[in-house]
Amino acid sequence: MKAVVIYKAGGAENLIVEDRLIPDDIAKDEVLIKIKAFGLNRSELMTRKGYSPNVLFPRILGIECVGEVVEDPSGEYLKGQKIAAFMGGMGRDFDGSYAEYAKLPKSIIFPFESVLDWSVLGALPEMFQTVYGSLFLALKIQKGESILVRGGTSSIGTLAIQLAKLEGLTVIATTRNPDKKESLLKHGADFVVIETGKIEDKIKAIFPKGVNKTLELVGTSTIKDSLLSTAPFGTVCMTGMLSEQWSIADFAPMEYIPATVNLTIYDSGQIRVEQEHFQNFILQIEKGEIEVVIKETFRLEEIVQAHELMEKNSGTGKIVVLP
Ligand SMILES: NC(=O)c1ccc[n+]([C@@H]2O[C@H](COP(=O)([O-])OP(=O)(O)OC[C@H]3O[C@@H](n4cnc5c(N)ncnc54)[C@H](OP(=O)(O)O)[C@@H]3O)[C@@H](O)[C@H]2O)c1
Repeated sequence: MKAVVIYKAGGAENLIVEDRLIPDDIAKDEVLIKIKAFGLNRSELMTRKGYSPNVLFPRILGIECVGEVVEDPSGEYLKGQKIAAFMGGMGRDFDGSYAEYAKLPKSIIFPFESVLDWSVLGALPEMFQTVYGSLFLALKIQKGESILVRGGTSSIGTLAIQLAKLEGLTVIATTRNPDKKESLLKHGADFVVIETGKIEDKIKAIFPKGVNKTLELVGTSTIKDSLLSTAPFGTVCMTGMLSEQWSIADFAPMEYIPATVNLTIYDSGQIRVEQEHFQNFILQIEKGEIEVVIKETFRLEEIVQAHELMEKNSGTGKIVVLP
């Protein structure tokens, strides 16, 4: 099979396409999957750059995929069953999805039914988990509330805007690039604010007390400003770190967090959303209630170009690879 292997941290050119044997030692608690599509994730970019000290090289990267079961020694899944897989050490502790086949633990797979193209399905597993978990489990969004989506043009942000809107919230979304304003409005944002790192005043010009909920995707470089932009009793959920900063120097909670404003996080590696929600989400896409934005699709052999595109931050939407 073809697989993308990384031997040393660095630029996209360090992703090497090579021939590997298809795994044939499938244990009872594992399945062999033929990978039909996988989305690219910024955590893979971080690992590629060497910012994931726990990931040992050489490694086949890839923290998510969709595909079909080829072999399940336990007999639970039939050959051809469609499955999604994500996280749980995939592409980090053991070889991941940047390949034509993968041997995966059954604990990280979700079976599903769908008539959607693989190119759309490939964008979904990690994106859905993260957005659903952030909005409904961490932020506990409610109809009638306001929400600030910071990093709105990211694929996570664009889906969060749509799900929050469907739930009946008023949405403010940010981008650093004024050219992307129309795209945010088209996906349901009621207001667009240009990201400058300090937007509290602009948020309070719209909602004088601040917003009820904030989804922080930019990271710790903006989180203090997000806390200040959020109303008393509101909640900020840090889910992303697009600015590649994830720690706060000299964190003094009493000075940092405004009284009664809640600060939480969502991490799809810690809490998995149940399978039925994923299947319902797929049905919503099939009915046209949600638009999945795909930036571009690539073949496995084009993985270097795909990673280079991810680093450019142009356009909106998920990058999907079809092995
Ligand atoms: N917690 C979890 O479980 C979890 C799971 C998955 C992903 N994530 C995180 O969620 C975030 C979004 O992921 P994604 O895959 O949706 O990203 P993405 O689609 O690759 O996001 C691209 C957009 O991010 C914005 N951006 C890039 N660098 C930025 C910076 N320094 N400051 C502000 N905005 C910046 C750019 O928007 P503009 O140019 O329009 O400003 C760019 O268009 C990432 O940090 C990712 O690691 C977390």
